[in-house]
Amino acid sequence: MVKAVVAGASGGIGQPLSLLLKSDPNVTELALYDVVNTPGVAADLSHISSPASVTGYLPKDDGLKQALTGADIVVIPAGIPRKPGMTRDDLFKINAGIVQGLIEGIAQYAPKAYILVISNPVNSTVPIAAEVLKRANVFDPKRLFGVTTLDVVRAETFVASLSGSKNPSDTTIPVIGGHSGETIVPLFSQAKPAVNIPAEKLDALVNRVQFGGDEVVKAKDGAGSATLSMAYAGYRFAQKVIKAVKGEKGIVEPSYVYLPGVPGGDSIAKTTGVDFFSVPVELGPNGVEKVIDVVSSANDHEKKLLEAAYSGLKTNISKGVEFVNNPP
Ligand code: NAD
Ligand code: LMR
Repeated sequence: MVKAVVAGASGGIGQPLSLLLKSDPNVTELALYDVVNTPGVAADLSHISSPASVTGYLPKDDGLKQALTGADIVVIPAGIPRKPGMTRDDLFKINAGIVQGLIEGIAQYAPKAYILVISNPVNSTVPIAAEVLKRANVFDPKRLFGVTTLDVVRAETFVASLSGSKNPSDTTIPVIGGHSGETIVPLFSQAKPAVNIPAEKLDALVNRVQFGGDEVVKAKDGAGSATLSMAYAGYRFAQKVIKAVKGEKGIVEPSYVYLPGVPGGDSIAKTTGVDFFSVPVELGPNGVEKVIDVVSSANDHEKKLLEAAYSGLKTNISKGVEFVNNPP
């Protein structure tokens, strides 16, 4: 029995993500929460002949409590998206409070749930989530994940155009660091199977992964940012968490986690100098089983990219921590 909750379920990501979760045979209950339109989205999805029962909640009538009670996994794509010319950090002002409020609800009504944060800026919203959970004395770092899977999906896709691979997702590429611009660091040297990237094409490839989000924001021309590819990526990560919790072994996917609180994280925190960082995570029945150190085996070119990532991340992380501990 798995109860999944989507918070922000009526949005551009929320709707297709809810559709994918509804189609997952492992999900038996799907609760949709948003400030608008969830009754309609839930009624629509509820006609699909898969196992999950679907319910929709609004803030009225204790909707957040109803949605979250009994949740095993909560996925959060709530909050505003970028428009051209904006950075993810520009979303902080509005999304920080939205994420804080939802995590307060989770701390109260579903403190054992696996929490998957999609809302931007992920580099700061995950530290906000951690601080809120700490304050409520329910923080389990093994259960809090910043979803950076879209960066991995992009790296797989973009490298396939060079390698000629017929199925891009057959190549595993660790993409580490954070989720914005130069904090995103793809480690192509550690691709499996190995990929041969011509030296003159490497910088452009790295740049495309780092700024893939901007490509979509620009193309949507004011109508938002990536939604469908994000729903795919969010579901891919959620599905892996659900499978691992159900006992499947050897599942690994990068995620932005609180390093000092997860097995294997301390030494990576020492090397990177940051507490929140995306690294390949081996998932298990309790969430993070261990994190895998791919940082120390990065090549010199990647180490240079990582230096830039550390400094950006430090600023983003302290902004999130400050928001909770010294509210504006
Ligand atoms: P959207 O505006 O289409 O949808 C957001 C939804 O959140 C809306 O339905 C809105 O009503 C809802 N919402 C607002 N406040 C809420 C609250 N307090 N509780 C519950 N729901 C609330 O936006 P979108 O395109 O779906 O993007 C959502 C977020 O995901 C943005 O912050 C975006 O930047 C981020 N995002 C992250 C990634 C990633 O890789 N992590 C990728 C794409 C987008
Ligand atoms: C992405 O990477 O597509 C998302 O973070 C959305 C954005 O603002 O670019």
